[in-house]
Amino acid sequence: MSYEERLQHVSVLGAAGKMGSGILLLTAVEMADLSLKPENRGKAYVLNAIDVSDEALAGVMKYLKAQVLKLAEKKMVGLRKVYAHRADLIDNDEIIDQYIFDVISLVRTTTRLESAYDSFMIFEAIKEDPEMKIGIFSKISLNNPHKPWFFTNTSSIPITKLDEGAGLNGRIIGFHFYNPPAVQKLVEIIKAEHTLSEVEAFAQQYAKNLRKVVVPSHDKAGFIGNGHFMRDILHAAAEVDKLSNEFSFVEAVYALNKISQDYLVRPMGIFQLVDYVGVDVCSFIMSVMNPYLENEDLHCHLLDNLLEQGIKGGQYSDGSQKDGILKYEKGRPVAIYDPGTKTYVSIGDFQSKVDGKLGSMPVPPTWKNVVGSKSKDEILQVYFNGLKQTSGLGAELARTYANRSCAIGQQLISSGVAMNENDVNTVLLTGFFHAYGPINDYLK
Ligand SMILES: NC(=O)c1ccc[n+]([C@@H]2O[C@H](COP(=O)([O-])OP(=O)(O)OC[C@H]3O[C@@H](n4cnc5c(N)ncnc54)[C@H](O)[C@@H]3O)[C@@H](O)[C@H]2O)c1
Repeated sequence: MSYEERLQHVSVLGAAGKMGSGILLLTAVEMADLSLKPENRGKAYVLNAIDVSDEALAGVMKYLKAQVLKLAEKKMVGLRKVYAHRADLIDNDEIIDQYIFDVISLVRTTTRLESAYDSFMIFEAIKEDPEMKIGIFSKISLNNPHKPWFFTNTSSIPITKLDEGAGLNGRIIGFHFYNPPAVQKLVEIIKAEHTLSEVEAFAQQYAKNLRKVVVPSHDKAGFIGNGHFMRDILHAAAEVDKLSNEFSFVEAVYALNKISQDYLVRPMGIFQLVDYVGVDVCSFIMSVMNPYLENEDLHCHLLDNLLEQGIKGGQYSDGSQKDGILKYEKGRPVAIYDPGTKTYVSIGDFQSKVDGKLGSMPVPPTWKNVVGSKSKDEILQVYFNGLKQTSGLGAELARTYANRSCAIGQQLISSGVAMNENDVNTVLLTGFFHAYGPINDYLK
């Protein structure tokens, strides 16, 4: 079966979720573009959007229409060529409406898993639960006569466990989109022990067509992205504990968040990133990864304590940030949750005291100014040279943080998760929008 034939009947599981809706959009557009080629006209293309709630699926269709409209406006020149044979389509608006119609009419929303029994390809983005994923894969595999291929978006479960658990005999691969899939350029591709070579070839082709940056990761729990992120969280949490003589909890959280954002020149502080992903999601990912790791305990008391008090973070359906470890106003952190008093404490109440204790620091370049700069390397080297020569608590915390981030990157290579430094750095640069890779010589 060719690439194009395989994409004639596809199902997305968890299509109404954060990741599933983006995967649905990308796949619908790729399938529509194939269906509009002259040689494919008249062939049937079916994309099942499968989830558990009809309401949620209705919402996804609205999202899909809005996104396809934006996309159509961007690729008008190409669409004019695609519809050149259609004398009835003259104005841009008519072409856009037709394209939206052509994309949307491929998609069939359903809550029935049985719809996937006819598909050649299954993209899966349901909850991060190994038993649930294995149960659903087995069911589809047993009932689908086409021996479908499974592309799982799991962020932490080894693909080989899913393959063996569901008896797929290598018809599975990890195709790990970043959030949101339609915007984020990075995809980690993770082969299971027995992934078929044709499944991998398809994954590479699909990623290329979607214009994604591909990084291969070995099949070790958490892969590269979460392998770094989860350990980064644990480092920050351990530093918060260590500072308990010096600072209250909220002060220490503020300090580490500031160090990891401003002094490491990252787009977000570590605790803001945890809120963005979700305190519950991060804690859960650690618990999924943990059984697969040797000599390491990926377990964060700080997150667990907050979760026990209902602090979750995450996002509203419009993409805005919910309060979590930090409280937000217009997307900016304004307060930090204190588990002792169970209230948010305004950052203004302690900011100058903590900044004073962190001591004088070289002025860091802002992430925004550095990330797209042609002189990025030079600016960063000058800044880190200054940091090397600065004494005081803040500079010490920043150096320790940067060195730990580098060590985590190296650990990912030595433990066989990442193939090389470049892959680790690409994941952090592309998937996490860091201005520089964690494995670097700036502090040497
Ligand atoms: N959110 C992220 O930043 C992110 C990034 C990369 C990978 N992932 C991975 O992607 C997957 C999905 O994560 P998410 O954040 O989109 O979760 P989500 O909770 O937003 O979406 C999951 C969706 O699956 C649906 N679902 C649950 N059980 C189902 C079933 N039996 N059949 C069909 N649909 C079902 C839910 O209703 C929901 O719409 C997870 O494996 C996660 O680890 C998440």
